[in-house]
Amino acid sequence: MSEHLVEVRNLTKIYGKDFKAVDNISFYADKGEVIGFVGDNGAGKTTVIKCLTGILPSDGGTISICGNPVGIKSKQCVGYTADNPDFMLRLTCREYLEFLSDVYELDENVREENIEKLTKRFEIEEILPNRLDSCSHGTRQKVMVTGALIHNPPVWILDEPMTGLDPQSAFRLKKMIREHAENGNCVLFSTHVLDTAEEICDKIIIIRKGKVVCFDTVENLKKKYGGLSLEDSYLNIVGDDNA
Ligand SMILES: Nc1ncnc2c1ncn2[C@@H]1O[C@H](COP(=O)(O)OP(=O)(O)OP(=O)(O)O)[C@@H](O)[C@H]1O
Ligand SMILES: [Mg+2]
Repeated sequence: MSEHLVEVRNLTKIYGKDFKAVDNISFYADKGEVIGFVGDNGAGKTTVIKCLTGILPSDGGTISICGNPVGIKSKQCVGYTADNPDFMLRLTCREYLEFLSDVYELDENVREENIEKLTKRFEIEEILPNRLDSCSHGTRQKVMVTGALIHNPPVWILDEPMTGLDPQSAFRLKKMIREHAENGNCVLFSTHVLDTAEEICDKIIIIRKGKVVCFDTVENLKKKYGGLSLEDSYLNIVGDDNA
């Protein structure tokens, strides 16, 4: 059994006949850690995340989440938000959150407590009776994030969670991510905003053409690749051909 909260070894995912979108990727995450996936569009971040959550079957390698291979048990340990908030649009926000609470088998009183606590944090209590398709993109995103956190899972996996959030909500989510890790859990998320990654991540995974080109602490990345910021180091690693 893996001693890490999340451990991925030699993960490979092939689309079609032979396109390796994820090519032999390995990394791990421990309690207390926030890990950021960064990389070009099409690098393979979402594909890795979909394999971790079990949405896509992998074509090689192993995944362990809280000691479980991908299956019902690993899924119970994970809270996930997709890279777009456009599903179950005909449900009201409350119905969506209650549906997820039922999926995760929360007691009714815990469910109500968590819905109240989380919706207060994002200031979306008032829109709970509204249908998802009547909400703005950012508001839908807040509801989706709330849904992913409703069962307080030990592993958060969030695909570009800050996209579309207003500055105040993005700030709150960043704070929640840090707090969640500090409470003995771990958070893996993808982002294109390197300032955000630098601000809240302990470690960064840079993915390029399906491969991990770097897996290290933010501090080490800055030291090794000569940069004042993560952006400098990133550009030194992946190149800046078109600048
Ligand atoms: N369902 C699919 N069928 C075929 N190819 C796919 C599929 N989904 C993704 N790909 C390809 O796999 C590669 C990785 O895509 P992925 O969505 O994982 O990248 P990403 O790093 O999340 O990119 P972005 O930053 O744009 O979100 C890309 O070349 C993409 O075109
Ligand atoms: Mg993506």
